[in-house]
Amino acid sequence: MINDIEIIKTEATKINEVDFDNLAFGSVFSDHMLECDFKDGKWHAPKVVPYHPITLDPSAKIFHYGQSVFEGMKAYKDAKGDVYLFRPLENFKRLNISSKRLAIPELPESYFMDGLKALLEVDKAWIPQQEGSSLYIRPFVFASGNGFHASPANAYKFVICTAPSGAYFSGKVKVLIEQTYSRSANGGVGFAKAGGNYAGQFYPTQLAVEKGYQQVIWTDDTNHEFIEEAGAMNIFIRINDTLITGPTSDRILDGITRKSIIDIANAEGIPVEVRKISVHEVVEAAKNGTLKEMFGAGTAAVISPISGFGYKDSDYDLPELDNTYANRLKKIITDIQTNKSEDPFGWRYKL
Ligand code: PLP
Ligand code: COI
Repeated sequence: MINDIEIIKTEATKINEVDFDNLAFGSVFSDHMLECDFKDGKWHAPKVVPYHPITLDPSAKIFHYGQSVFEGMKAYKDAKGDVYLFRPLENFKRLNISSKRLAIPELPESYFMDGLKALLEVDKAWIPQQEGSSLYIRPFVFASGNGFHASPANAYKFVICTAPSGAYFSGKVKVLIEQTYSRSANGGVGFAKAGGNYAGQFYPTQLAVEKGYQQVIWTDDTNHEFIEEAGAMNIFIRINDTLITGPTSDRILDGITRKSIIDIANAEGIPVEVRKISVHEVVEAAKNGTLKEMFGAGTAAVISPISGFGYKDSDYDLPELDNTYANRLKKIITDIQTNKSEDPFGWRYKL
């Protein structure tokens, strides 16, 4: 028991099968998971159990009506072996914001935080110490209750599983500025981390990948005029010395990395503007040489520099600068996350 959380440990660890020096993203999973059920109108205490397949009725509503939300977080181990999370309460709050929009019952904070701490305590050996690697944490909630009636389920599961992971992108990131499809719409679920938001992106992203791009940059669904965000990250654009990112809305995920980068940039004296930025402005800046950088920001992506973008059958390359905001901001945020520097913002959370 840790903080009243029951723990059932595996008898057969898989850790010796993992090459911690060559980790892909999210493809090997740690020995344990947290499992917690909502039934009879309430959440029941979570348990740490061996990682295992989940059995569901074929009529479970997750399969038919897509009631599912998730989070993405990371645990970092410093040189001494101490473990840190980054702003975990923000993930907890956002999970409940997403749940509310999908008519999923909200979780008590203690089940999320104490459950997560207990899970990480048990699987501490799975948290990589290697530079650039971390333990990716995937909390999710889905409708396990069944029935074909198109209405919210009466039973749900909250699960956390974890995956020792390296970089999300393996090489340069080229993006396509989308002009046909939309990720989200006014009044929709774009701000929620709902599984269906990602499913809806796969087909347009496949089309972009066939043309040589890695991610789609979504634009507003009304006129495809303004930059919104990318498939798995928020977007920052540097024109001359100013860093610009679009405001969040009910169509855009309120990224924790995004808001941290805005605070760091402000503290560093980098001019930051949170405002709508049109595709036209970005294309003109690329043409006249004032577009200096574009990068994505997210938990999985950390800060991923964008090497170029496609728009309406034309490709635009970004310059290769020596001193980029992307590198400077990435070092500051990852040093805070991994306990290599002071944390003036109070974001680090020691386990
Ligand atoms: N936008 C989308 C669509 C995402 O999936 C993510 C990843 O979580 C982000 C932005 C970045 O959010 P965060 O920095 O909280 O990970
Ligand atoms: C994250 O950055 O944690 C995400 O959830 C993005 C996901 C698509 C990998």
